[in-house]
Amino acid sequence: MANAAEMEMQHRTVLLEEAVDALLWRDDGIYVDCTLGRCGHSRRILERLGDRGKLIALDKDPQAIEEAKKIIDPRFSIAHESFARLRDVLAGYGVTRVAGVLLDLGVSSPQLDDPTRGFSFRFNGPLDMRMDPTRGESAAEWLARATVQEITEVIKCYGEERFAFQIAKALLARRMDSDRLGPLVTTGELASIVAGVVKTRERGKSPVTRTFQALRIHVNQELVDLQIVLDAAADLLEKKGKLVVISFHSLEDRIVKRVMRTLTSVEAIDRRIPMRAHQFAPPPYKLVGKVKPCAKEIAENSRARSAIMRIVERVAL
Ligand SMILES: C[S@@+](CC[C@H](N)C(=O)[O-])C[C@H]1O[C@@H](n2cnc3c(N)ncnc32)[C@H](O)[C@@H]1O
Repeated sequence: MANAAEMEMQHRTVLLEEAVDALLWRDDGIYVDCTLGRCGHSRRILERLGDRGKLIALDKDPQAIEEAKKIIDPRFSIAHESFARLRDVLAGYGVTRVAGVLLDLGVSSPQLDDPTRGFSFRFNGPLDMRMDPTRGESAAEWLARATVQEITEVIKCYGEERFAFQIAKALLARRMDSDRLGPLVTTGELASIVAGVVKTRERGKSPVTRTFQALRIHVNQELVDLQIVLDAAADLLEKKGKLVVISFHSLEDRIVKRVMRTLTSVEAIDRRIPMRAHQFAPPPYKLVGKVKPCAKEIAENSRARSAIMRIVERVAL
């Protein structure tokens, strides 16, 4: 396990220029960065926005919000909110249409590399994993009350882990021993229980990666929130507005791909319109493209390895 001195607390923004190029099409528009992180994309958007443009940025993480407060710019507003509340947040600013929405999903390096946040099996720390530690239930609290079936389902669905049931049983056995050992509250102990159960080894992957990913997705409701924000963001776009989404694993990308396919297919046309008109009406959104980081970016930032950026444009209101 690494110690604090080895921690890399900087976040290297993935697809920085590509994402901002895809998002910004008018410099006087209202844009939303739903995932502030360490403000990499937000800073670049502000550099390229004109005096009449606006950027509203959200993050669940109070540390990301503190970082963003260092940006003093009258065109910039910050909200400590989940992007699942995008519609309400924008309504609070009196905004009903936007020129573009950016989502750079997952966790930031400062979250992952801070042992006190409990996201990583590389450090021993409290088993928390909440992006917003001021709300909701930590991973340790959930594991202390969930049934074997619930734990199995989460690890199987969100980690795509073959040994989900065996891991859940081992975690329950550990819980039965809480009188003697105390509750399971550290990432280090979770990692050693899981590593003791997962019998196969995948190349370049720790045997506990899948379980940690699954618990993080569950604790933060990541896929539920993603579905909600994609629907809201698409609906809030003005004509020519862009939705730009960077995902980092197949579960996220599958949702993004499915939503974008639905938006851009003929199915997206209002069914109340008489059938004949359908033959002439194009879908209200079009796929702009899919971008992956280049070899140079991946060589410089291993986190970029699995990134996929997808873009849609609204072509009709
Ligand atoms: C990959 S980082 C973003 C990095 C950022 N683009 C940059 O360049 O610095 C993802 C961020 O999204 C935030 N996040 C994840 N899910 C969220 C949600 N449902 N609502 C708001 N923020 C969320 C995380 O807290 C994290 O700070």
